[in-house]
Amino acid sequence: MRYKISKYILTFLCLFIGIGAIYGSICMLLDPTGKLLQMDSMLPYFQVLPLSKYLFQDYTFSGIALLIVNGITNFIAVYFLVKNEERGIKLGMIFGITLMLWICIQFVIFPFNFLSTIFFIFGLLQLIMGYATYVFYQQIHFEFSENDYPDIDKDSNCLVVYFSRMGYTKKIAYQKASELKADIVEIKTKERTANTVGFWWCGRFGMHHWPMPIDSLNKNIKEYSKIIIVSPIWVFSIAAPIREFCIRYQDDIKCVEYILTHHMKSDFINVANEMDQLLNIKRKKLTSICIRLGKVKSKHLFE
Ligand SMILES: Cc1cc2nc3c(=O)[nH]c(=O)nc-3n(C[C@H](O)[C@H](O)[C@H](O)COP(=O)(O)O)c2cc1C
Repeated sequence: MRYKISKYILTFLCLFIGIGAIYGSICMLLDPTGKLLQMDSMLPYFQVLPLSKYLFQDYTFSGIALLIVNGITNFIAVYFLVKNEERGIKLGMIFGITLMLWICIQFVIFPFNFLSTIFFIFGLLQLIMGYATYVFYQQIHFEFSENDYPDIDKDSNCLVVYFSRMGYTKKIAYQKASELKADIVEIKTKERTANTVGFWWCGRFGMHHWPMPIDSLNKNIKEYSKIIIVSPIWVFSIAAPIREFCIRYQDDIKCVEYILTHHMKSDFINVANEMDQLLNIKRKKLTSICIRLGKVKSKHLFE
């Protein structure tokens, strides 16, 4: 849903900017003196630009440049956005930057004016919406299937415990369980964790270092000789459902390893230390994995 909304807004912005640029360029080409657009009085400001003697004696070159840089380009982005292709989103983002650069030249050569400022804001909005749409696109195209991991639940000595909102941590947990043929269990909560509202709700728990109530597990933690906890980082700390798990099962775990997933390129050793404190046990291993939009960027192992 949020992908669709942000894509519609991005498409509207590209269309709006593209139509405006084509209208402006046609007017400049029809009347290169600039009178049609009431811009003839602005022509002297262009004379500070390089090659102004050849390019800026009238609006012919400006019209062609506007048509290419902000007109046709935005229509190309709209075409790919309508076709639901990823490159449409990237182009939308890029053309937001080009519009801002274009306006920056105007900021330097023209006196302060409302139109340049408003179009700079449009360019910025286009960039922001392009980035948001790109993030949501990657999120909905993230692929994971439990069926790809047939080797899990075959060694009842080791249990992989995980919590995951978007599925990134889930994939890492399944990979680990499959590698060790270990049992696996997901921590679930009745709190809101999905979508944008869920993100902010989780952030609230993370900020306050609150544990989040979790459903009871269908595995007996005490039966396992080793527990591997796979947790995302929330607000530089332990994800709230995992914090609750550590508090609830602190007396039941004999041997523990952690896998921490996060967006930032930090190892979060302090978070592993905090988990040790909560569980009252020293970890055997810590793997710190930086994941961005579902793709593993770096992995560090601490034994
Ligand atoms: C509420 C919230 C706060 C987050 N805070 C951080 C953070 O401080 N540092 C970081 O690197 N990643 C942070 N992240 C990103 C997650 O740790 C990262 O995307 C993780 O891979 C998510 O795994 P999941 O999608 O399986 O839940 C945060 C995510 C959420 C939802």
